[in-house]
Amino acid sequence: MELLNLHELEQLARARLPQMTWDYYASGADDERCLRRNLDAFAEITLHYRVLVDVAHRDPATTVLGEPIAMPIIVAPTAFHGLAHKDGELASVRGTGDAGTIFVLSTLSNTAVERVVAAASGPVWFQLYVYKDRSATEALVRRVEAAGCRALVLTVDAPLLGRRERDVRNRFALPPDLGIENMHAAGYARLPEVAGESGIAAYFAELLDPGLTWEAIGWLRSITRLPVLVKGIVRADDAKRAIAEGAAAVVVSNHGGRQLDASPATIEVLPRIVDAVAGAGEVLIDGGVRRGSDVVKALAIGARAVLVGRPILWGLAAGGRPGVAAALAVLRRELDLAMTLCGCPDIASITRDLVDLGR
Ligand code: FNR
Ligand code: LAC
Repeated sequence: MELLNLHELEQLARARLPQMTWDYYASGADDERCLRRNLDAFAEITLHYRVLVDVAHRDPATTVLGEPIAMPIIVAPTAFHGLAHKDGELASVRGTGDAGTIFVLSTLSNTAVERVVAAASGPVWFQLYVYKDRSATEALVRRVEAAGCRALVLTVDAPLLGRRERDVRNRFALPPDLGIENMHAAGYARLPEVAGESGIAAYFAELLDPGLTWEAIGWLRSITRLPVLVKGIVRADDAKRAIAEGAAAVVVSNHGGRQLDASPATIEVLPRIVDAVAGAGEVLIDGGVRRGSDVVKALAIGARAVLVGRPILWGLAAGGRPGVAAALAVLRRELDLAMTLCGCPDIASITRDLVDLGR
């Protein structure tokens, strides 16, 4: 798939998807200000590029939590890939493997974790939502570890689902052939139908635990050997606390603008979080990464890697496995050019002065 950029991919996906699915993927909470803020904040940052550096050879390879990856771009967990393509998460994990990076599987996938890991050629991490039913959650964690996932990504910004008005208007629901395949044993595989509600919002309200506290990190560490990342942090004190409680990394994220619409842009809060964590754990970020230069900006500030959400769904909708691989290839090509033009032949040379100079 030959692509000019991710905007083109977005249009291809939009043309293919039914309105309800497009709206679910695209939408943010309330007025969708945070959704735009994430993008705008990246656009505001400039890169103070270096000249006369030998950039004849570039290498974007890096590691995240010790895991070698081809580039510092990994696939964010997103629910319901079966809405975009008949092969769902299997196509996504294969396309991600083609790009040489990590796939983070959502708890709310339309394909069971065992099948996804079996289809993977690269590392799979598992994004965890904690259910009110702790024993079902524990069973899921044990299953995920046994399946061969290499890390747990605990999402903490969704005690309830943000109000995505497009989903409310559409009465968002899954077609009968798509379920939440990791949750059959517990009986939580179906979205409830609640009058005047989005089915996914109703599912959260009914089943997920809004009583979750910091205790959850220690609890998870007591039931699994997998490293735990905490996703959904926008405050320096929360980031420090997560690491102090035993997390290996934090993901600076506001859920792609889908939760608290008044959240700051993630890239805006990244500097203070990197400074507060001070190397005690790794810091990842997502929300609004659409260009290779955005990746350079995040890494310059101190992120270890970025995650991308919607662009992967666009690729999946537009072309299945090759579409996902193409989305990641566009970002890789742009990252390579941005590194070249910034005088950065490798990831280690992407340092804070690229963004701080002149401020
Ligand atoms: C998400 N996100 C998400 N996060 C999570 O922890 N578990 C999930 O199941 C989902 N599901 C989900 C569905 C859809 C359709 C979207 C768009 C997002 C949030 C996701 O992991 C990530 O934080 C954002 O998507 C990042 O922002 P961008 O790259 O989409 O701008
Ligand atoms: C979402 C949930 C499922 O953002 O994380 O739709």
